[in-house]
Amino acid sequence: MRVIIKKDYKEISQEASRIIKNLVNKKSDTTLGLATGSTPLELYKELVRLNKDKEISFCNVKTFNLDEYYGINSSHPQSYRYYMKTNLFDHIDINQNNTFIPKGDLNVKEVAQYCQLYEKTIIEAGGIDLQILGIGGDGHIAFNEPGSSFKSRTRLVALDKQTIQDNSRFFTDIKEVPRFAISMGIGTILEAKEILFLATGKNKAEIVAKALEGPITSIVPASILQLHPKITILIDHQAASCLKRYSHYQFIQEAEQEIGTPLF
Ligand code: PGA
Repeated sequence: MRVIIKKDYKEISQEASRIIKNLVNKKSDTTLGLATGSTPLELYKELVRLNKDKEISFCNVKTFNLDEYYGINSSHPQSYRYYMKTNLFDHIDINQNNTFIPKGDLNVKEVAQYCQLYEKTIIEAGGIDLQILGIGGDGHIAFNEPGSSFKSRTRLVALDKQTIQDNSRFFTDIKEVPRFAISMGIGTILEAKEILFLATGKNKAEIVAKALEGPITSIVPASILQLHPKITILIDHQAASCLKRYSHYQFIQEAEQEIGTPLF
């Protein structure tokens, strides 16, 4: 696990965009796994800027989003399709036919087969080269809430009470927050060749410490990331503030700069 602690949100976002830029410039047909929420917003702004400045092209890139609310359609302003269009896809040179986000408006009877198709589409794209991940206040990754199986695949899930509460800030009334979602499973996420985990701010500090330094338990779904062989944890000082081995991570970061290659 490679832990990089940066000064603030802006620095995290810049570092994340650098990692993506390097990868896409090396492999133009990269398959990216994308996340929504507040955390990647600044990263997406950075990618838009880099694309405008011709430092990165998404012409041959494919993307798969982690999840989508179930029960709203893609034109809903809180749908993740709408979020991705307005924050990224409409402003870069990507072919939007190569952007995949689970459909949130299917009949419940169609969902299981559709989820299998989503998984198959990922495999046909050669798998996810780099998955961007955030963490929920309850430790979820994508919408894999506490108690989710570590072997879970893309499926219909119910949102936890805390997630509904956390996400109510985007809706006029908490009653409008969807109760269900279609989410990649933890098993799906762990198959990404590389993971870039982002967290920022004091309110993520305790859950970040549980995920990175606590026991691996399905009660903290993000704790399974300890088993991923190629994961970069990119966090700011505030999100890192409850880590017991804070100074160790900084020591290793210095060593990494000395040797000039990422140390996972
Ligand atoms: P946030 O959400 O980026 O809005 O904090 C992260 C998540 O719920 O995965």
